[in-house]
Amino acid sequence: MEILDNFNLKDFNTFHVSAHARYFVNATGLDCLREALAFASHKEIPFMLIGQGSNLLFKEDYPGLIIEINVRGKELISEDEDFYYVKARCGENWHNFVQWSLEQNYYGMENLSLIPGTVGAAPVQNIGAYGVELCDVMVSLEALEIANGELRTFTNEECHFSYRNSVFKQELKDQFIIYSVTFGLRKAPHLNTSYAALAKALEGYSADEITPQLVSKTVCEIRRSKLPNPKRLGNAGSFFWNPEIPLAEFSALKKSYPDIVGYANDKSVKLAAAWLIDQTGWKGYREGDVGVHEDHALVLVNYGQATGAELVDLSERIQKSVKDKFGIVLTPEVRII
Ligand code: EPU
Repeated sequence: MEILDNFNLKDFNTFHVSAHARYFVNATGLDCLREALAFASHKEIPFMLIGQGSNLLFKEDYPGLIIEINVRGKELISEDEDFYYVKARCGENWHNFVQWSLEQNYYGMENLSLIPGTVGAAPVQNIGAYGVELCDVMVSLEALEIANGELRTFTNEECHFSYRNSVFKQELKDQFIIYSVTFGLRKAPHLNTSYAALAKALEGYSADEITPQLVSKTVCEIRRSKLPNPKRLGNAGSFFWNPEIPLAEFSALKKSYPDIVGYANDKSVKLAAAWLIDQTGWKGYREGDVGVHEDHALVLVNYGQATGAELVDLSERIQKSVKDKFGIVLTPEVRII
């Protein structure tokens, strides 16, 4: 296991901002992970895990050890009448895993196509898109307990999943490294095409033309049409969470802003943060190399040489505008380090 010194993280975050880690290691297996943890503990320095850095923004250099999670492997472990049970290790690329599953005719993840990141990062924030969340297809996961180096199994229920949230961001934050995830994938397609943008894109097809492969292809097309490819333009997808507010507060806002976009459930409404930002005039804004994407107001971008601090500064100005106009506080979804 080679530990690198003073390592530039520019290629390890999808914003492509330059920041240096005091130490860096590429961990390809369980033993490597354990050794890396021991190194950080011995040096008494902080450590941080990184998958593909698709939800991270480095505001400054990192004073500890960055552990790149590069543990690969995926396999069918069992099946029953309705499901295939497939285990993938944490370093697998999420989208490649989804595509591989579709090629094997393992269904259920088609709506989650093209989400950047790794399998191991997916449960932490319960990734979701187009009406499906990771928690809908996950059976269990194995995680390495940092305090004692042992593997522990968590059932779906034990992960306490909710919108972009799990126990690994709450009670057990920074205590476990997700090592493998087991999915229950359907043998027969069971499609969810209710999300408005997806339903609209599929309007021209007859029911038997709508296969999981077509849903995946359509989701990819929708994403490509409004979310910039991080390989070409630095970004981390949605920068803020969609805020949830009580129904009464929503009704009051709707009186002043009849077009406000929100998705109601029993007691609360999830507002489209993109709409709020759009209304405050930030969409398409650019100053130097930082900006707000011209096709999607929730996506902050690095046009080249932006620093993390400049992006954070822009995000704070956006938060202030939205707070001043609507009284709504936007919280970053991106992890700022
Ligand atoms: N809208 C605007 N202006 C814009 C963009 C959108 O007003 O520039 C409005 C539109 O009315 C649109 C609504 O906002 O209908 C919602 O936009 P969109 O369908 O693009 O979804 P989103 O709420 O912005 C969420 C996730 C995405 C996920 C999509 C599709 C969050 C924070 N983001 O975005 O996830 O791909 O739904 O399910 O929940 C990510 O987490 O990085 C991410 C990209």
